[in-house]
Amino acid sequence: MAEKILVTGGTGYIGSHTVVELQLAGYEVVIIDDLSNSNIEVLGQIEKITGKKPGFEQLDLCDEARIIEYINNNEGISGVIHFAAFKAVGESVQKPLKYYRTNFYSLINLLTAFANRNVNFVFSSSCTVYGQPDELPVTEDAPVKKAESPYGNTKQIAEEILQDTARVNSNYKLISLRYFNPVGAHESALIGELPIGVPQNLVPFITQSAIGKRGQITVYGNDYNTPDGSCIRDYIHVVDLAKAHVSAIKRLEEKRFSSNYEVFNIGTGRGTTVLEIIDAFEKTTGVKLNYQIGARREGDVEKVWGNVDKAEAELNWKAELDVNEMMRSAWAWENYIKENPFE
Ligand code: WQD
Repeated sequence: MAEKILVTGGTGYIGSHTVVELQLAGYEVVIIDDLSNSNIEVLGQIEKITGKKPGFEQLDLCDEARIIEYINNNEGISGVIHFAAFKAVGESVQKPLKYYRTNFYSLINLLTAFANRNVNFVFSSSCTVYGQPDELPVTEDAPVKKAESPYGNTKQIAEEILQDTARVNSNYKLISLRYFNPVGAHESALIGELPIGVPQNLVPFITQSAIGKRGQITVYGNDYNTPDGSCIRDYIHVVDLAKAHVSAIKRLEEKRFSSNYEVFNIGTGRGTTVLEIIDAFEKTTGVKLNYQIGARREGDVEKVWGNVDKAEAELNWKAELDVNEMMRSAWAWENYIKENPFE
């Protein structure tokens, strides 16, 4: 009997790629998603890739009674990977209560509902918790800095909720994965990033500009203290990121953890500037981009990339896909979804 993993937010960008890797690793997968920021057609796309359609329940994780009912009707869940949350930095500044309510209620309801059920729990966190690190590459024991946005604050406080919960209840086995910048798409081009409205993130804006859906790209500043003046980030292929979740679940299953709450950086360990991303896209795809240099964006950190030694050593995981494959796959997905739009 395959272990059953619940993936919340499993029709989303990172969630859907993680569902695919879990299924390919032999797990049975069930998804809870409220479809507020994703499309149900992703279920069929996952089935086209793996031959297995995941279980699905449309459910608002802020509704504790519904979660309890769902769990009682779905016995045998051995692990939970919790992606479901709002994650737009700019929107969180305009609508803080939407972010605090959903991102906290969903986490607290899940932890409460699964209390003393001995499930393995992996949480989707973010390098945002570091702000602008004092030292680079940033390690997991770097100080968490005052968040620049309510979104970043929800990730910081969520990690504290997990830590405090694990401390008083050894039945919990929890891991937070601090992602750097997820980009790219599955090699099949059947799943990928589906931003609603104008993309805030760099790579989806690049691919939408390249395909003619958006206008000129603005590089938000080239007067930073970096080799070409534009910001540095640790871009990681979403498939590598998805595989890190499978590794985290396996670590908990095999009880290889050193404490019942652990944190891992999930990145490549390499920094890439905005202009280098633009150059990599143009060289990989042969498509010339239309961009200008503009003013800095409020809230951006200058440079951040991860020290990923801990994940490589203890999760037996290492990012394998390079920036060119990130650009190639992102472009292939943009072309696929243009020809095959979801309803
Ligand atoms: C990357 C770089 C921009 C758009 C955010 C969240 C983080 C995670 C990933 C959820 C920056 C520059 C961008 C554009 C640009 N999200 N840029 N022109 O801000 O590093 O991280 O998304 O987990 O938590 O904070 O990602 O892609 O928005 O920006 O020049 O049109 O690209 O200034 O330097 P970011 P991003």
